[in-house]
Amino acid sequence: MKQFTVLTLFPEMFNNFLTTSIIEKALAKKLIAINIVNLRDYSVGKHHQVDDYQYGGGEGMVLMIEPLVKAIKAHQTKNSITILLSPQGKQYRQQQAQQLAKQEQDLILICGHYEGFDERILHYVDYELSIGDYVLTGGELASMIVIDSVARLCSDVINAQSHLNDSFTNNLLDYPVYTNPVAYDGHLVPEVLLSGHHQNIAQWREYEALKKTWLKRPDLLLKMTLTPQQEILLTKIKNEK
Ligand code: ADE
Repeated sequence: MKQFTVLTLFPEMFNNFLTTSIIEKALAKKLIAINIVNLRDYSVGKHHQVDDYQYGGGEGMVLMIEPLVKAIKAHQTKNSITILLSPQGKQYRQQQAQQLAKQEQDLILICGHYEGFDERILHYVDYELSIGDYVLTGGELASMIVIDSVARLCSDVINAQSHLNDSFTNNLLDYPVYTNPVAYDGHLVPEVLLSGHHQNIAQWREYEALKKTWLKRPDLLLKMTLTPQQEILLTKIKNEK
């Protein structure tokens, strides 16, 4: 079972996350485990300090190294990787979620807050991850994103069949899906989906996934090698009005 340990100054941010939907079910079924650790429990000195002013002057408080390293050491095992959530990290992508889900290792996720953390923390982590080129007030939301995206790929958390069609899994966006009603405000469900003809439906989905990717994320297509069939479809898509 994959175990996630989160080191945070704001454990309460995780309350709804742990008690909602797929994550709640996966925890109840013991398919994953999530351990939220309050960094304040590893504070130092009489004043239970976890942050301090930065050397050299400047706005904002900095997370001290001692509580962080104490907390890491208390939770690290031979079978864990320690990841620091930070905008300086390598950008997180679906491919990495797949890798993390597949690996046997447990994850320790460190959430920074305030102006950041004492840079020396980098000597104690395996690597840094960023969820995108923007700055959050802390790493908590980022760590939830990593846990959520990895957990849904862990065995039996959701139907494995649905992973195959996930956007990004094969560098394509997912095909469009529809449910009732068949007609809404003049907008119809594509007829082929009502036909019950599995082969036509599969072909339509392949075409639409490619079309959606071409229209919305053409950069993804540049990264992949198209099959001859996809090349033909793409030419057709480009020639469509
Ligand atoms: N902490 C603050 N901003 C972040 C980001 N973009 N990714 C990961 N952790 C962060």
